[in-house]
Amino acid sequence: MPKTFYVTTPIYYVNDVPHIGHAYTTIAADCLARHHRALGEDVRFLTGTDEHGQKIDKAAHVQGLEPIQLADRVVERFRALWRRFGMSNDDFIRTTEPRHMRMVQLLFERVRAQGDIYLGSYEGLYCTGCEEYYTETQVPDGLCPYHKKPLERMLEKSYFFRMSKYQQPLLEHIAAHPEFIQPEIRRNEIVSFVREGLRDLSVSRTSFRWGIPVPGDPAHVIYVWFDALSNYISALGWDGSPGGGEPFQRYWPAVHLIGKDILRFHAVYWPTFLLSAGLPLPRQVFAHGFWTVGGEKMSKSLRNVVEPNALLDAYGADAVRYFLLRDVPFGLDGDFSHQAITGRLNAELANDLGNLLRRAVTMCEKYTDGLVPPSGAPGGLEQTLVETALRAAQESAAHLEALAFHKALGSIWELVRSANRYIDEAGPWTLHKNGERERLHTVVYHMLEALRFTGVLNGPFMPGAARGILEQLGLGSGDEALRRERVAAWGGLPAGTRVRKGAPLFPRIEPERAAEIAARFQPGGDPMSDDKPRSDTPAQPAAPAAAPALAPPAAPAPAAPAPAAPAPGGPGTTGPVFLSIEDFRKVDLRVGMVRSAERVPKSDKLLKLMVDLGEAEPRQVVAGIGKAYAPESLVGKRIMVVANLKPAKLMGLESRAMVLAAGPGGEHVVIAEFHGELPPGESVH
Ligand code: MSP
Repeated sequence: MPKTFYVTTPIYYVNDVPHIGHAYTTIAADCLARHHRALGEDVRFLTGTDEHGQKIDKAAHVQGLEPIQLADRVVERFRALWRRFGMSNDDFIRTTEPRHMRMVQLLFERVRAQGDIYLGSYEGLYCTGCEEYYTETQVPDGLCPYHKKPLERMLEKSYFFRMSKYQQPLLEHIAAHPEFIQPEIRRNEIVSFVREGLRDLSVSRTSFRWGIPVPGDPAHVIYVWFDALSNYISALGWDGSPGGGEPFQRYWPAVHLIGKDILRFHAVYWPTFLLSAGLPLPRQVFAHGFWTVGGEKMSKSLRNVVEPNALLDAYGADAVRYFLLRDVPFGLDGDFSHQAITGRLNAELANDLGNLLRRAVTMCEKYTDGLVPPSGAPGGLEQTLVETALRAAQESAAHLEALAFHKALGSIWELVRSANRYIDEAGPWTLHKNGERERLHTVVYHMLEALRFTGVLNGPFMPGAARGILEQLGLGSGDEALRRERVAAWGGLPAGTRVRKGAPLFPRIEPERAAEIAARFQPGGDPMSDDKPRSDTPAQPAAPAAAPALAPPAAPAPAAPAPAAPAPGGPGTTGPVFLSIEDFRKVDLRVGMVRSAERVPKSDKLLKLMVDLGEAEPRQVVAGIGKAYAPESLVGKRIMVVANLKPAKLMGLESRAMVLAAGPGGEHVVIAEFHGELPPGESVH
């Protein structure tokens, strides 16, 4: 029986579209899963979505959707993104699936049968963002420590879980298993938290319905974290029988990869539920750090979220995977910048690895007719190269065991660089010129074999590039060639194999392209990105069809017509202005579906619209069309919207897009409308 390995990501909330933080955990889990598969282990890699709870319920209703409709939409975004990243998850669990819901009730019953659940009532300060109660002492200012929003005072009848009973057993488990909570700093935090005393936990809610009913008392739904955490065993088909059933028996316990913000749920709540149910605790909970942008926390309200699809368009899956795992030690916080990713891509991927591939394959074509030559008799230079390769194989595996992804890549790059140095020092071109055939064969063999090592070792990190390398070496693209045992010893590349030169794996990002990418990510630059206001953003190109009085984001007062947008030629330019197609493309024109509309109090001209642009939540848009349109006549219309205009405040209300219309103003304004069945958010071109 092969060894088993079970790795999980958090299941992601569906009130928001995927961002780089979600991609980070999932890439790390994919890398580990691929590594363990390459070791020949029987691997299970799980990801999924967390779809119940008040947060999702509220987000759906704001958009005029049922929660399940919102979930169905957002789940597709996650699935599509994971496909683009090449994720190799074996399963994708949704908490709204019957297989999960049944099992959560079963676990609840099991815990209740232990005498660990009782009915009480709860009064506290609740944050829907966290789906968590806080005590007065935790939040002296009444604001959520994470979301900085006022907490709601709630009084509910609630079922409680006797978490207090498991304080000691949990501390004992942590002490006996130092690898259980990692990194160490996080373990220490949890130990102090638990030592301060575990209070019983409220595990049901009556204030909303969007959840799994408590068995036997459907007025209550099960607390969303009890529901969500159980995914890790419901996806394994845990059935409550003594062994738990297959595949639970085979794969459990798991390695849980999570962000540090959700550590307490995984390292305290989850283990105590499992202790109560008499189930083994997770093998490890590893909490990684947070990505910031320009030193700031990434958040929707700051509108600085890095959109993973746009990153993939700009750099490709392998480069993004490499960057995220290489740039920052797993466990620490890191800052995302295009400069950093371009720097690494050019220096480490295009130069170091890309050049090694190109040189080795080209020289094989030129000097040995495209066939792998016999290895011949190695000398001192070869010995050093072989030692470096074997060390890279060994060290990268050890670092991966410890989830030190950046160190593993560091070891692999020692080999990449040594292989390039080896070529320079061995000078195959001179050997060719001097007709030293045998020595030339040895050198060509060694550079190709070193390249093969880098291909295999990069497999978990950059599956596309790894396959590309092995294909160019003539070894095909199957998983077999990527098995770890293939780099257990030197000399696995068979002489006589025909190499085939392919396209470069990582074209360099030249300065013009880097500038273009950076501009695309500027707020308002890329259609996928959000539009954080920034004073250094250049003036938006004029949208000629816009009636400026509709939603004049830059206007000093709503009643005044907006100043004409400056012509791109600069102040003082006269005559017609011609936009290049690139300039035109900077205007993010989209189909917006009006979900709701109402008058802005004390204004006869302004309407407040909620416009669905195909994003997780509709945007608030304030438009000066109140004299021409009754608010209710707009609901359900598909209108044309500029989605990347700088947000502006109109009578104290933020307007986050502009409605396009024509006409002199007042009652004589006609909005641009679509009459076909276009989905909200469709781009206009
Ligand atoms: N649904 C819960 C998890 C339930 S698991 C049983 C949840 N979902 S989430 O979608 O909000 O977040 C998922 C993960 O993304 C968390 O691990 C969180 O730490 C991570 N990240 C969110 N923002 C992040 C960064 N800016 N950087 C890195 N990871 C971040 O929490």
